[in-house]
Amino acid sequence: MLRTELTDRFSLQVPIVGAPMAGPGGPALASAVSLAGGLGMIGVSSAATPEWITAAADEVRQATERFGIGLMAWNLARRPEQLDAAIAARPALVSVSFGDYSVALDPLRQARIPVATQVGDVASARQAHEQGIELIVARGAEGGGHGDDRVATLPLLQGVLEAVGDGAVVIAAGGISTARGLAAVLAAGAAGAWIGTGLLACHEALARPEAKRRLLDATELDTVSTSVFDIAQGIPWPPAYRGRALSNAFSRRWHGREDELAQDPAARQQLVDAMAAGDYDTAVIYAGQAVGSLSTERSAREVVSTLAAGAEALLRRW
Ligand SMILES: Cc1cc2nc3c(=O)[nH]c(=O)nc-3n(C[C@H](O)[C@H](O)[C@H](O)COP(=O)(O)O)c2cc1C
Repeated sequence: MLRTELTDRFSLQVPIVGAPMAGPGGPALASAVSLAGGLGMIGVSSAATPEWITAAADEVRQATERFGIGLMAWNLARRPEQLDAAIAARPALVSVSFGDYSVALDPLRQARIPVATQVGDVASARQAHEQGIELIVARGAEGGGHGDDRVATLPLLQGVLEAVGDGAVVIAAGGISTARGLAAVLAAGAAGAWIGTGLLACHEALARPEAKRRLLDATELDTVSTSVFDIAQGIPWPPAYRGRALSNAFSRRWHGREDELAQDPAARQQLVDAMAAGDYDTAVIYAGQAVGSLSTERSAREVVSTLAAGAEALLRRW
């Protein structure tokens, strides 16, 4: 069994956190990851209501008490009620990533809920450590969905571990989807992995069959880190955080022409319509470069246990 500070701290059987993924990462995926021995997270979208958060947490709790909730820091000024609902749900962990998370720290501490944040550079890791964040996620540019896309996972992880690894629990994210990736970051000194894309093709991930088919067909070359899908949908992500998604006709047309897109209501409406219709030549499917490793739809239990057992076998070889 792979024992780390992460498994000890959260009573896990495997050093794996299922990354919060607004959209595909609902209660079914969160509970499946937790039942497989990891820590499943509910991904809360920027538009989610407190009622949605409460209902999602209640659903997970029917299967397991062990789960986390992932919020977007930049969104808390607009929707402080998301934090209240997350605290009321009494999760084992709340992650507050991407933007100024400081407003969330006192309420979470008072509720005795450990906090995670995803960092994209070493200075941000130092800052998180100074603020007493319990779980620092070194999240590299190859990761799926939104994040800081300036530094890849391996240079980031090395820098973060050197800077704060002695005092903080550091885990790695971005591009980890197989046993080899998990073994690599554990060998480097990370306490675990925070895995998103690797779980996207699971039965329990909420996605249309056509989206899953495209994820299974994609290679590591098929993603782009872009703001065009946010601009078109009018989601006010801070410019520092783009979203890594499968490239498609819409991203090929507009990536690099963001100002023009913002001024083109017809193009923006085209994306909104395509999202509703599930037309993925235009609609977005967020995924990281690890998408190239997905080849079959599997259960989250199988993904998590294969990762952990394979990593253990690889590490034993040394
Ligand atoms: C479809 C999708 C949705 C995501 N949604 C969120 C989210 O709601 N909150 C968050 O903190 N991170 C979100 N992320 C980012 C993940 O937390 C994590 O950084 C990323 O998945 C790690 O890289 P990987 O995809 O290569 O495993 C999302 C990622 C994906 C792929």
